Amino acid sequence: MAANLLIADQQFIDSVECLGRTHKIVDRLTVRHEILVGELTAITAPYLGVSDDMAKTMGIAARLHDIGKIAIPQTILHKQGPLTEDERQQVHAHASYGAEILSISDNPLYQFAAEIAQHHHEHMDGTGYPHGLQGNEIPLAARIVAVCDTYEALRSPRSYKSALSHEQALEILTCGDDRVSPNSFDEKVLKAFCDIEDVLEAAYNAHVAAEA
Ligand SMILES: [Fe+2]
Ligand SMILES: [Fe+2]
Repeated sequence: MAANLLIADQQFIDSVECLGRTHKIVDRLTVRHEILVGELTAITAPYLGVSDDMAKTMGIAARLHDIGKIAIPQTILHKQGPLTEDERQQVHAHASYGAEILSISDNPLYQFAAEIAQHHHEHMDGTGYPHGLQGNEIPLAARIVAVCDTYEALRSPRSYKSALSHEQALEILTCGDDRVSPNSFDEKVLKAFCDIEDVLEAAYNAHVAAEA
């Protein structure tokens, strides 16, 4: 379990940037997602009792939540149409690959990032992967990233779907659809996210506008 307070030092920030650039070379489409999930996580975390310093570190570490996708073929990640069961298993492996990459060091910052990568697809009701953890078995940081990750994925175009508006994304997070169930999420995290949805939407839009 990660410490209650971690301060990201420059060496860690440089490592995150280095890995982020590596991921960008492999998959240019992923950059916005990684950065935005980090930003949304850093904004949301203080509303769940996380200190400002820790929230900042959480946001930096969250940028690596999908780093394990560098090990997954692009043809599968960006496939149009449904995945086969084997392809789905390969995509699911990105969580454990990410944890494996980030476990390179005993430094608690890397362990913290590895924990997020490992658990960000776990669901509160035990239906997630890779371990089917439930409730508080899932670290808080991973529960926060899970909501921000899903929101960002809903807002962005993918090979298999178009981008949704802020309102549409919120509707799916809170009411569900054929791919997303609100039971996946920590209800306290989802409530915090919804309580500050205008702040999060503004941060999202500002990032997208700065890219243009
Ligand atoms: Fe992921
Ligand atoms: Fe993600």
